Amino acid sequence: LSDKEQSIHASWEDNAAAWVEAIHQGRIESRVQVTNAAVVSAVREVARARVLDIGCGEGWLCRAAAKVGLAAVGFDGSAALIAEAEKLGGGEYQLLSYDDFAADPFRAGGVFDTVICNYSLLGEDVLPMLRGAAAVLEPGGRLIVQTLHPLSAVGADDRYEDGWRVEDFSGMGSGFKTHMPWYFRTIGSWISQIRLSGLQLVECREPIISERPMPASLLLIAARPSDI
Ligand SMILES: C[S@@+](CC[C@H](N)C(=O)[O-])C[C@H]1O[C@@H](n2cnc3c(N)ncnc32)[C@H](O)[C@@H]1O
Repeated sequence: LSDKEQSIHASWEDNAAAWVEAIHQGRIESRVQVTNAAVVSAVREVARARVLDIGCGEGWLCRAAAKVGLAAVGFDGSAALIAEAEKLGGGEYQLLSYDDFAADPFRAGGVFDTVICNYSLLGEDVLPMLRGAAAVLEPGGRLIVQTLHPLSAVGADDRYEDGWRVEDFSGMGSGFKTHMPWYFRTIGSWISQIRLSGLQLVECREPIISERPMPASLLLIAARPSDI
């Protein structure tokens, strides 16, 4: 693991309890106002039977998928978050790192009609994960990626270009102990990563909160063609 990937992993172990609290208390405004509903409705539109949630955290999205009759499998690299997910149920959960998934994607649980990455592709090198997702998708299956909209993350001193940033979790409640590096990606960069993975982009949604000037998230839907 690179130093940055190691720091991302460490932050999710250190901040697991605070993260669980933030999710359960609805402390992240953009999630409550628009992005949770956006990803759940995308899942309802495209998923047929069996979904894989990559970087599932404490499992809320697997539980939402289970509620609408889907079989949900989630994996995450944080032991504390997987323990919480198992406690709350709703899916089959596994402690698995992205490196291990990328090395053998089928160990996550076989083949899926839908793979979801909800705010979980945080590092610079996302291609191994996207290729892993492509590998476990049935032909015609869909990948749903929701991520911070780059326009909502460009401050006055930032350039609109790929690069490492730092999340300090301010505004997400208390108890966050460790900052997290994350890799800012432009929309063009997300689209080229998807293309390089062999998947075909079918939709680009930009959920927006009505009182805000910029979209909260970027939600990409890509399809696995039958010939990869
Ligand atoms: C912002 S949280 C999102 C959690 C969940 N998808 C949600 O929407 O609430 C990012 C998740 O990605 C996981 N993650 C990040 N990098 C990882 C890696 N290299 N291996 C395994 N999990 C990783 C973290 O442990 C964390 O649970």
